[in-house]
Amino acid sequence: MSDKKILNYSDYLQLEKILNSQGLKSAERGTPAHDEMLFIIIHQVYELWFKQIIHEVDFVLTVFGQKSIDESHVSHAVLRLDRIIEIQKVLIDQIRVLETMTAMDFLEFRDDLFPSSGFQSVQFRVLENKLGLPPLDRINYGNQDYKKPLLDSGKEAVQKAEQEKSLFNLLENWLERTPFLTFEGFNFWEKYSQAIRGMLNDEKDTIQNNPNHTSEEIEYHLKDHERAVDSFEAMIDSEKHNSLIEKKKKRLSHKATQAALLIFLYRDEPILHSPFNLLSRLMDVDELFTTWRQRHAIMVRRMIGAKIGTGGSSGHAYLQKTADRHKIFSDLADLSTFFIPRSALPELPENIKRNLGYYFNR
Ligand code: HEM
Repeated sequence: MSDKKILNYSDYLQLEKILNSQGLKSAERGTPAHDEMLFIIIHQVYELWFKQIIHEVDFVLTVFGQKSIDESHVSHAVLRLDRIIEIQKVLIDQIRVLETMTAMDFLEFRDDLFPSSGFQSVQFRVLENKLGLPPLDRINYGNQDYKKPLLDSGKEAVQKAEQEKSLFNLLENWLERTPFLTFEGFNFWEKYSQAIRGMLNDEKDTIQNNPNHTSEEIEYHLKDHERAVDSFEAMIDSEKHNSLIEKKKKRLSHKATQAALLIFLYRDEPILHSPFNLLSRLMDVDELFTTWRQRHAIMVRRMIGAKIGTGGSSGHAYLQKTADRHKIFSDLADLSTFFIPRSALPELPENIKRNLGYYFNR
């Protein structure tokens, strides 16, 4: 007879540990607050999901860290990103469960939490770094490094993720290397610029001749329009693009930006399907993080009003700023400024189309 232990559900999932890990601080004080159980469990559930998301992001990082990446690798990465997206939706929905706790109920145990805070979530910081949030672009409070309130073990993990290549870096390198975007013998950018300049001039006319706007309003809209023109000029001129990068108005390199735009414009070509899906999913992940940040900030306002956070920040105001600014793939979203209808796109010559297509019957 084999002496192999028969696997049991509880042992496999280590439920003994998990289900005995809810130590209510209010109970230690002798006055257990009913809602502290929910508060602890919801944070633990978030941390488990963060772990799963990091696991998926690590897979995508490995794929894009390789020298040679083929179509099937990209499709595989897209599947992992799909999973992250579904988890993120759950993370956003879960806030509603927490909101069944009222602000008064939270007060029953809030003082017990000082000075701990979600600000000290190591996995959340690791995730931000792995995706590519630059340390210097972080909104600081109290002029202190965001790693300072972490335990030493956490600091190390966060620092490591800060130093490794992020998904943003690897995507940029991959876009710069995309081979299908060199249009030999066909001046794509000249033809495309003509179409875009025509579109931008039409827009300028519409702004200038809008009978419903005052001259101040027209001036205001023309300034916005000028920014779009500058941004487009940077698309075709690497020096202009680099100067926008220096001013922190753009982040993605010129070459990578051009490649991303071409992927969006010619996404109907078979070979660009997976790259298009990849870029779209990355924008989804970024957007859903922003949505989570916004939802968390709204919930926090309802819970603590204008009070400071237990971690010492200004609370809602700080969180709202992170929702506005802590974005990673905005450069991709901004590209839609330069989309034109398919009918106005430069027609690709047949030899280039053949390179972009899958020809099974030559
Ligand atoms: C009653 C519920 C909650 C309140 C009142 C609250 C409040 C806050 C506040 C005020 C901050 C800013 C830092 C500080 O001063 O403490 C913060 C940060 C944070 N919280 Fe919450 N929170 C709540 C629930 C949650 C939950 C369920 C999670 C899930 C993990 C979470 C995750 C985070 C994270 C990751 C940060 C850092 C955000 C950043 O720095 O960008 N919070 N929270």
